[in-house]
Amino acid sequence: MADVNVLEEKLAEVLGLAQAAQTATEKVEGLVESGTIKQQLRLMREEAEETERRCTALADEREGKKTAILDKARETKQEGEEMMRTYLGDDSDGLDGFEFMTMAEAAEVGHWLVLGTLNEKAGEAPVQELVDWATPIQQRHFETVKDCALTLAAEEDPYEVE
Ligand SMILES: [Fe+2]
Repeated sequence: MADVNVLEEKLAEVLGLAQAAQTATEKVEGLVESGTIKQQLRLMREEAEETERRCTALADEREGKKTAILDKARETKQEGEEMMRTYLGDDSDGLDGFEFMTMAEAAEVGHWLVLGTLNEKAGEAPVQELVDWATPIQQRHFETVKDCALTLAAEEDPYEVE
């Protein structure tokens, strides 16, 4: 199989994280009651689907590397989903779900920033376009899941015995 370079590896990682985000938003949607919060999760899932499409389109343009990038993305996706299963057991509630989401969205923000920094040297216009599109969206996702976590936390009885 073709070897991927660092830039392609990072592209694969943001792609895998976007795939894992679709699973995570679906899982967490099942843990919350609020229609408003469910709606926010659905929007994040749609944006994760669009991110996946755009990353895949970019991988498509890389001569002979597409399969290697998609394989690497699948690894990242599986690692993300495994983390989710470890973190969210059968007794997890909505707040647990959003605590996990803060980690997952922070990881996405971090990886997009890394890809952006790598591309400062590479200077590939299509990569830059994707980074410029995706980074603010991921930053908004992080803010959204943090706000949802805090909304749910504020509803908790701090003295309730688990
Ligand atoms: Fe996200």
